[in-house]
Amino acid sequence: MESAKWRIHNSSGHQRVIVTKELPGERWLEILTAADCRVEICTSAEVLSTLEIKTAMGAQCDAAIGQLTETWGNELFAALKAAGGRAYSNYAVGYNNVDIDAATAHGIPVGNTPGVLTETTAEMAVALTFAAARRVGESERFLRGGHYKGWLPTLFLGSLLWRQTVGVIGAGRIGAAYARMMVEGHKMNLIYYDPCAASDLEKYVSAYSEFLKSQGLAPVTCKRAATLEELLQEADCVSVHTVLDDTTHHLINAERLAMMKPDALLINTSRGPVIDEAALVAHCLKNPDFRAALDVFEEEPAMQPGLTHLNNVVIVPHIASATSWTRQGMATLAAANVSALLMGCPAWQKPDITPFLEGTAPAAAPSVLNAQALGIPEY
Ligand code: DGY
Repeated sequence: MESAKWRIHNSSGHQRVIVTKELPGERWLEILTAADCRVEICTSAEVLSTLEIKTAMGAQCDAAIGQLTETWGNELFAALKAAGGRAYSNYAVGYNNVDIDAATAHGIPVGNTPGVLTETTAEMAVALTFAAARRVGESERFLRGGHYKGWLPTLFLGSLLWRQTVGVIGAGRIGAAYARMMVEGHKMNLIYYDPCAASDLEKYVSAYSEFLKSQGLAPVTCKRAATLEELLQEADCVSVHTVLDDTTHHLINAERLAMMKPDALLINTSRGPVIDEAALVAHCLKNPDFRAALDVFEEEPAMQPGLTHLNNVVIVPHIASATSWTRQGMATLAAANVSALLMGCPAWQKPDITPFLEGTAPAAAPSVLNAQALGIPEY
């Protein structure tokens, strides 16, 4: 394989930061430049191997910004530490690709980029929901294939979601934003499953329901499911918003798919391995009225055999957070994590990260996952 190409920004900077992919926007580079960093950016679109990243770190590397496609485990954190590294930030809110315990064992703080993906990812989950419900991909392929011979009363009948029940698995930031969009926009009743009660979301839906009543409209309901099975049996449309860990791997398997309504929708914008993809392919083949929409896959970028042939599945290439605002915001947060950690600043504790996005940012690292374990003071 041809060796990856790197470009250098601010070559006179005294702290060396490697960034394993090109990132959008300028603010992130300004932040690192202001922190006296020489920034080395890999310009290749290929996923770098652990060896390539270690080689790039070399003998001196103060910090790194890596991608969700890379495995940041003991080997890389040991190499970063040996090169004098003092900070790592994932360019993602999810961090299932990072071994936080290994980083902590080497004394390396790990940052991530929460808060800028919420609405963007929720909007994409909504887009996928309706693409699946209204058979957008399938009908577009039909049209582009030259098969449209004129309007028909029975052409591509889909599902109406208005006043149906939406099920949200994982009611954290993104799940709750998706839930609000579906409840407010489409007057759906909400059932959610989460180990923690989403009391803000429950209050929100209840207040919205009162508002509907005040307008002479039928109310909506919100229920926390006691079990995942209860949600799967009741919901017309299920959207997955969990983290990926040992407890959520194959959370949606063949047995649970079989519990869902035969014409239900299943949306996944979280992580591929939360769904047993082979089981989903088999389920969609057997149940043509069941529809799925996937932004993420079990073995990305590969897909299970048969998935791409299924007309009742919508597939997009992990783009749920792909708006310019969000991807630039993620770059800003990753750079702010690294620069603040290199300068010995404390870790920001508030959920609102917008102060980092423009103007003078607080002297803090926006999100450090192992701050407490490493004794990094709170801002
Ligand atoms: C994340 O940040 O975890 C997302 O998957 C990127 O889109």
